[in-house]
Amino acid sequence: MYSSYQFIKILFLFALLVLHFQDVQASSEDQIAFGLAKQNACLGCHAKNKKIVGPSFESVAQKYQADPNARKFLKNKIAKGGAGSWGVVPMPANTKLSDAELSLLTSWILRGAPN
Ligand code: HEC
Repeated sequence: MYSSYQFIKILFLFALLVLHFQDVQASSEDQIAFGLAKQNACLGCHAKNKKIVGPSFESVAQKYQADPNARKFLKNKIAKGGAGSWGVVPMPANTKLSDAELSLLTSWILRGAPN
């Protein structure tokens, strides 16, 4: 028979294990997204926390925080480029990115682009 103390201990260890794997998964997604942003020259115009030519990824995350359509809108915007959200300077289109890469980049940016 397990004592309730042992049971709680097992439950606790299990919770730690789950948290650990979630963390590992999130950080490897962050790394892949960061790599994509580097390879596709996004980081020439965007930084995590300061404006370069385009807005910082943290300001993008903040602006769309409560917008339920943000994911779809930003995916399309990254692919097609354009101006109007932040000013008159347009972002060039990014035609080489796959749908999966666009999704990954969009989620990463909406998390504030951690790496
Ligand atoms: C030549 C510079 C340049 C490059 C390269 C660039 N961007 Fe941008 N980006 C901009 C500008 C300028 C804006 C602001 C556009 C606007 O005001 O609508 C912008 C806006 C954005 C936005 C916010 C869009 C909105 O409507 O709020 C996201 C997200 C974004 N860029 C992601 C990316 C990603 C991901 C890449 C790489 C695949 C990338 N950008 C490459 C200049 C660039």
